[in-house]
Amino acid sequence: GKGTFDHFMLKEIHSQPASLGKTTRGRIADDKRGVRLEELDTGVLDGVADVHFVACGTSYHAALIGARMLSDVGVRTRVFRASEYAKTAGPVSETTLVVPVTQSGETADTLSALRTANERGAATMTVTNVVGSTAAREADESLFIRAGPEIGVAATKTFTSQVVTLTLLAQQLAADLPGATPRDDLPELLTALERIPEHVEQVVTSSRASDLATRLLEYDAYFFIGRGMSQSVALEGALKFKEITYEHAEGFAAGQLKHGPLALVTPETPVVGVFTGEEAGQTVTNAMEARTRGAEIIGVGPAGGPGEAASDIYLTVPDTHPVCQNLLANVQLQLFAYHTAKELDRSIDKPRNLAKSVTVQ
Ligand code: M6R
Repeated sequence: GKGTFDHFMLKEIHSQPASLGKTTRGRIADDKRGVRLEELDTGVLDGVADVHFVACGTSYHAALIGARMLSDVGVRTRVFRASEYAKTAGPVSETTLVVPVTQSGETADTLSALRTANERGAATMTVTNVVGSTAAREADESLFIRAGPEIGVAATKTFTSQVVTLTLLAQQLAADLPGATPRDDLPELLTALERIPEHVEQVVTSSRASDLATRLLEYDAYFFIGRGMSQSVALEGALKFKEITYEHAEGFAAGQLKHGPLALVTPETPVVGVFTGEEAGQTVTNAMEARTRGAEIIGVGPAGGPGEAASDIYLTVPDTHPVCQNLLANVQLQLFAYHTAKELDRSIDKPRNLAKSVTVQ
């Protein structure tokens, strides 16, 4: 049941310290110099030269972060919306590892992309939450995110577990694929990942997102911006927000604002800036373009980071490794979406027109 929580979504947001602890358990070497994904038969990686991610919705945003983690270690990677894979992938061979990222393992578009990959002779490895799901049965290999069952239609704890699992997978590939290079900051990254449950706990217990929600009702639209990995967090923040508040929300690459979307910016369109990682300073520059047009800036980032002074309201995250800062920023945006939807009295756990697992193409 929901226990003391009003909604499963809130319960699931609060359960992330535990779910993320399960995701990493036993997978990080004690000396923080490597990972071991023990259930994975690494034979599937033999001869792999590049990786294609296929996914939908929130899982697509997790895959975008996974792709960034792989490109950081020198692995050629592309990310596809699963529904576009058959038409746009072009030739796929046994040197391509196709990775369907799917919480349920039952999403029709993602299964269709998996079948395309299998037919074209690629190696396949699904990253999923559900043992025994169709994706797990049809892929050559499976890597489980171990988030536990998720009841709310809006993906929260499964997104963060997907991102952490893909981050670990990237480090495994960095060690196993010829031509890939382990990250210089691997010990720092793995140390930060082990501390993520504690940091998520800090965010969920101290978040000011509920005060923010009551101040920000009745606007025309909500724009979410970020760069690099924080762009993926912005896209996910906007998806979660529109899904459960029914308000118009869009995510953009911060640098693209001035190439079109800025025409929509007015005092009636708050802009959420994900000010995490090295690109935060440049995202601030773009947020200022919106502020000049009267938009309220809601920033998310570490205390004292470049985004703080540029924001009308600032939600903080612990100052940890940039990858983990992005995960924590996502948790703040989960709470922002949740509390806004609650103020608007929406059907949070079962938003209109949506299903937990989309089994039609
Ligand atoms: O089960 P999957 O991860 O394959 O589902 C993919 C999307 O349908 C899903 O992430 C959807 O976007 C969520 N409801 C978003 O919160």
